Amino acid sequence: MNFEQELDKRIIEIEKVLMDYLPKQEGYYKTVIEAMSYSILAGGKRIRPMLMLESFRLFGGKDTVLLNPFLAAIEMIHTYSLVHDDLPAMDNDEYRRGRKTTHIVYGEAMAILAGDGLLTYAFETAAGAYDFIDDSSDDALSMYKKISSAIRILANKSGIHGMIGGQVIDIESEGQLATKDRINTMYKLKTAGLIEASMMIGASLAGASEKELAIIESIAGDIGLAFQIRDDILDVTSSDEVLGKPVNSDEKNDKSTYMAIMNLEDAAKEVAYVTDRARKAYRSLSYRNDFLEALIVKLMNREK
Ligand code: IPE
Ligand code: IPE
Ligand code: MG
Ligand code: MG
Ligand code: MG
Repeated sequence: MNFEQELDKRIIEIEKVLMDYLPKQEGYYKTVIEAMSYSILAGGKRIRPMLMLESFRLFGGKDTVLLNPFLAAIEMIHTYSLVHDDLPAMDNDEYRRGRKTTHIVYGEAMAILAGDGLLTYAFETAAGAYDFIDDSSDDALSMYKKISSAIRILANKSGIHGMIGGQVIDIESEGQLATKDRINTMYKLKTAGLIEASMMIGASLAGASEKELAIIESIAGDIGLAFQIRDDILDVTSSDEVLGKPVNSDEKNDKSTYMAIMNLEDAAKEVAYVTDRARKAYRSLSYRNDFLEALIVKLMNREK
C-alpha cells in the first residue's frame, strides 16, 4: 500500500462530502455562513472524518450514504472547537490552518457566532441522515435506531462530558502544576472526545456490537491522548509554517501540558506507549483495516 497516495484519496473523498454539506452563502446573515466556510475551507488534516470512515470500513461498512452527514458533522464540530479555542478569551491565537484565525478576519462577535453556527449546523446535518432511510425496507427501524444512537454519541462526546469538559479543565489548569492524572483526564475529554465520537459512530453505523463499540472507544481514547501529547510536543519543537498555527502557544498561556511535567524524550515515549496500547486493543478485534492501522502508527510521529 502506498500510504500517502491512499491518504490523499481519502482527503479528496472527505472534502467532497464536506462541500456537499456546507450551507449556501446567502441571505442577510450570510456573513456568518462565510465565516463558517472560511474556517472549514482553510483545510486541516481531516483526521476525525477519516477515522470515522475507516472505522466504518473496519466493520464492513460499504455504502456511505448514511455515514456522509456524520463525516461532515464531525468536521464542523471540530472546526467550531478550533474557532472558539483560538478566541482571545481562550488561547488567543492569530493563525490557524495557515490562515489568520476567524476572529482576526471577521471579528470576535462573528467568530463566536460562526462557532455556534458550525456546532448547531452539525446536528442539523447529522439529522439529515434520517432522510436517506427507505421506510419500506426491512431494516428501516434498525436504521432509525442506529442514527439516533450516533447523534447521541456525537452530542455526548462534544459536550460537557466530552470536548467542552476537557476545555474547561484546560482553562482552569492554566498557571497550575497539574498532576499527570488531571492532564490525562483533560486530554481524554478535550481531544479524545471527538476522536471517540468519530470512531464509535463509524463502527456503530457499520453494525458493530456493543462489546466491539467499547473496544473502539478505548482505542480511540488512546489515539486521542497520544494525538494531544504529540500536539504538545510540536508546540515546542515545530514552526508556525509547518503547523499552520503559532508554536509556543502553550507556554504563552502557561498551560498545563505534558511539556510542563516531563521532558521531550519522555513525552515521546508516552506517545509511543499509548499508541502501542491502542494497537494491541485493535488486534483483539476480529476485523482488519490496513489503512487504519497504518494511520494510527503515522499519527504517532506526525510532523503537523
Ligand atoms: C487540532 O487538531 C486541535 C487538537 C486537538 C490538537 P488537528 O491537529 O486535527 O487540527 P487540523 O484539523 O488538522 O487543523
Ligand atoms: C485544543 O487543544 C483542543 C480542542 C478541543 C480545540 P489545543 O489548544 O492544544 O489545540 P491547538 O494547539 O490550539 O490546535
Ligand atoms: Mg486550547
Ligand atoms: Mg489552542
Ligand atoms: Mg496545542
